[in-house]
Amino acid sequence: MNTGKDLFKHELQDLYDAEFRQAHALTEMAENAGDPKLADALREHREETQEQIRRLENVFAVIGEKPAKEPCAGVIGLVKEYKDFVGEDPSEKVLNVFTAEAALKAEHYEIVSYSGLIKLAGHLGRTKVVDLLQQNLDEELATAENLEILSGQLGEELALQS
Ligand SMILES: [Fe+2]
Ligand SMILES: [Fe+2]
Repeated sequence: MNTGKDLFKHELQDLYDAEFRQAHALTEMAENAGDPKLADALREHREETQEQIRRLENVFAVIGEKPAKEPCAGVIGLVKEYKDFVGEDPSEKVLNVFTAEAALKAEHYEIVSYSGLIKLAGHLGRTKVVDLLQQNLDEELATAENLEILSGQLGEELALQS
C-alpha cells in the first residue's frame, strides 16, 4: 500500500465492515436493555446505521469501487467485550449502564474513524465523498451525545439503589 487513495479504500472497507457489525450489535443491545429509553435509542440508531451502510455504498460507487469489507478488529473487540460482560450475569440496572457505555465506546470509535476518513477524502479532493461521510459522522455525534445523557441517568439510578 503506497498511496492516500489506497489508504482511503482500506479505511472505507474497515468502516463498512464496522457498520454491519454495529447494526447487529445494536439489535442485540436493544434486546438486552431493560430500560425502554435506552432500548429505543439503540433501535433508532440501528435504523440510522442501515442508512449509513447505504451512504457508504454510495461512497464506493463515487470512487468507482465495489463495496467490500475489511474485518474491523476494533468493533470485533468492542462486541466481544460486551458479550463477555453479559455472560457475567449482571443485574438489569448494572447491564443498562454497561450497555449505554458499550454503545458509547463504539460511537467514539466510529467518530474517530469517520473524522480520519473525511480528512483523507478532503486531501484527495473528493467533495461528494466528504459530504456523504459527514452525514454519517453527524449521526454518530448526535448518538454519542444522547447516549452520554442516558448513561448519566442510568448511572444515577444505579447509584441511588446501592
Ligand atoms: Fe455508524
Ligand atoms: Fe454509530
